[in-house]
Amino acid sequence: MKLPMPALPYEYDALEPVISERALELHYTGHLKGYVDKLNRLPAVVSSDKKKLEELIIEGKKEKAKNLLGVLPPGEHTSTLYNLSAQVYNHMFFFRSLIPNGGGDPTGEFKEVVEGQYESWEAFKKRIIAKGKALFGSGWVWVCLDDEGQLIILKGLDAETPLVYRGISPLFCIDVWEHAYYLDYNLDRGRYLKLVIDKLLNWEFINKNMVNA
Ligand SMILES: [Fe+2]
Repeated sequence: MKLPMPALPYEYDALEPVISERALELHYTGHLKGYVDKLNRLPAVVSSDKKKLEELIIEGKKEKAKNLLGVLPPGEHTSTLYNLSAQVYNHMFFFRSLIPNGGGDPTGEFKEVVEGQYESWEAFKKRIIAKGKALFGSGWVWVCLDDEGQLIILKGLDAETPLVYRGISPLFCIDVWEHAYYLDYNLDRGRYLKLVIDKLLNWEFINKNMVNA
């Protein structure tokens, strides 16, 4: 089987000026396509018959856990299958978390949950930005809902995805790998996070994820 290249839900210039056309095009045709192409060359993918991306992530996670138990020598405690399949899933979740002319104040059920748990959206937003800035290295900031209806902010290192954890459902995520912001923001990860949240978040997508959580 071959996983198709997932479609970007908007044009390359649609997120300007927050994310430049050049940055988004490189992100999609360079980084995401690279993950999809490498994934499609893995034996686990070539030999499988129409597995869903989510199934490949779970399979990769099991492989990673097995490696951690010492089946492989130190330094090889990882799983290429997990890293690549999770990166494809994470990127598509990120791109769907954004929409041209999005952002502003939250709406719907998400707004209610934020206001029930935090002093204000501004206060919660500051926490998301702080977590994203504090992530050491490359990764993701995930805002999730746990099975008690509480919002949690997850710092995901490298390809980490909440899909493999029980009891939490992702609502939206922001890519904080350097390739996501360096071209437009250089070292200023905090400014990138603030503008993405303020100008691009897709409340319809986020509220749909609240319903499905
Ligand atoms: Fe990325």
